[in-house]
Amino acid sequence: MKHILCIGAGYVGGPTMAVIADRCPDCKVTVVDINADRIAAWNSGTLPIYEPGLEEVVNRCRGRNLFYSTDIPKGIREADIIFVSVNTPTKTFGAGAGRAADLQFLEKTARSIVEYAENDKIVVEKSTLPVRTAQAMSRILHSNTKNLKFQIISNPEFLAEGTAIRDLENPDRVLIGGMETPEGERAVEEIAAIYAHWVPRERIITTNLWSSELTKLVSNALLAQRVSSVNSISALCEKTEANIDEVTAAAGRDSRIGPKFLKASIGFGGSCFKKDILNLVYLCGHYGLPEVAEYWEQVVRMNDFQARRFVGNMLDAMFNTVADKKIAIFGFAFKADTGDTRESPARAVCVQLLEERARLSIHDPKALGNAKIDLADAGGDISYVDDPYEAARGAHAIAVMTEWNCFKELDYKRIFDSMEKPAFIFDGRNILDHEALYEIGFNVYPIGKKKRTHF
Ligand code: NAD
Ligand code: UGA
Repeated sequence: MKHILCIGAGYVGGPTMAVIADRCPDCKVTVVDINADRIAAWNSGTLPIYEPGLEEVVNRCRGRNLFYSTDIPKGIREADIIFVSVNTPTKTFGAGAGRAADLQFLEKTARSIVEYAENDKIVVEKSTLPVRTAQAMSRILHSNTKNLKFQIISNPEFLAEGTAIRDLENPDRVLIGGMETPEGERAVEEIAAIYAHWVPRERIITTNLWSSELTKLVSNALLAQRVSSVNSISALCEKTEANIDEVTAAAGRDSRIGPKFLKASIGFGGSCFKKDILNLVYLCGHYGLPEVAEYWEQVVRMNDFQARRFVGNMLDAMFNTVADKKIAIFGFAFKADTGDTRESPARAVCVQLLEERARLSIHDPKALGNAKIDLADAGGDISYVDDPYEAARGAHAIAVMTEWNCFKELDYKRIFDSMEKPAFIFDGRNILDHEALYEIGFNVYPIGKKKRTHF
């Protein structure tokens, strides 16, 4: 039986290892973390993250060939293969602050491996890392005095939150990068053999280490760039009476462009897009390519602009003041089907509204706990409300921040009747039936489409 260890029991380590354990009954998979509360939650009936389908997979495997533990030394000693899935946030201090990746957690993990390993191992970079990190990783691992040999593999993760299990069970591709040596190639094969339990071979791509590391950053940069491109055009649509959904649907029919990931919004959020682009920007600067750095930085600037523009539109519509007005915030998660609020554009919008002295009443089906944490220092008048009808009662406006399906199914006549008049809806995700809302009496402000007002 192969012993697989994953260091880091977060949004990536947790679901990824659950699916590996599910699909590879011949492997024993252990997930470790320094965060004892998180491990306790993985071992309990309430998992630490919400992800559709995850609970079922965990329930099938936990205690069979899937284990969660805080005993990192034991995990390292037993493992043949170690996946490293620790967080790699943007550095907040020192050189490269605000752009470069903070690799302290990764380095600590490498040092733990050096300390506790007793035999040769394959170490897999699952975290998203700057290109050429494997070189530093290899140096640290080979600083061991036990004459142990480590093969470093890059196997970036492409799952999206909310669809993690589907993405893991049926990935577009699995990318595995390794050293171009006989030992490196054998290690790549060993990791490919794990995925080959359920992923067709033609979807398992193998490359050199540096291509694999860089592909992950580039994939996220290209996806985020698409969202920023569409959002920039949504601003132009609002000026010209073009309709962003019609524009993207027609443009996306070109098979070279494709229809996916062209939805206008208040901006992209999530723990990775911004951090990975800033990391790319930093790397380009580091390698003496300022024009390339500037090109990619604009994707993040456009994203910030979109959230500011949204609040600007709210102010314009509501007679240039929201002070002391109650505003219902529908959704705080950075996207639907997750409780994750990291870098959620909802936070940026809420903070700006609080600066304008609005009173916020926030509702989200899964993310209220995280919203409270994220806005703990924001000050101002905020309530967190489980019931959307209660959140909207007495409000002057509703701002839709997350594309939760349940928001489409609400009784908006009932909501309208309970609100102050004139009542406004700002649909930051273009998910509601704008014509029906207008007929009820709302003044409706979509993104990138004509507003519908009664005055
Ligand atoms: P996360 O913060 O949810 O989880 C990381 C975990 O690592 C935490 O629980 C933390 O306690 C643990 N950890 C940190 N240092 C440790 C150490 N020395 N020993 C043991 N455990 C340690 O992060 P995440 O969202 O799972 O992301 C992990 C990596 O995967 C990042 O590099 C991220 O960019 C990348 N990634 C994330 C996603 C996503 O959807 N969240 C998708 C693809 C790739
Ligand atoms: C993204 C990538 O899609 C994954 O492939 C990658 O593994 C992951 O980042 C990562 O590295 O962390 P994720 O952030 O979970 O996944 O979710 P996405 O579906 O990509 O959405 C990101 C943000 O863009 C969300 O705020 C979403 O609402 C927004 N978005 C997405 C739009 O505004 N419009 C779109 O058309 C698509």
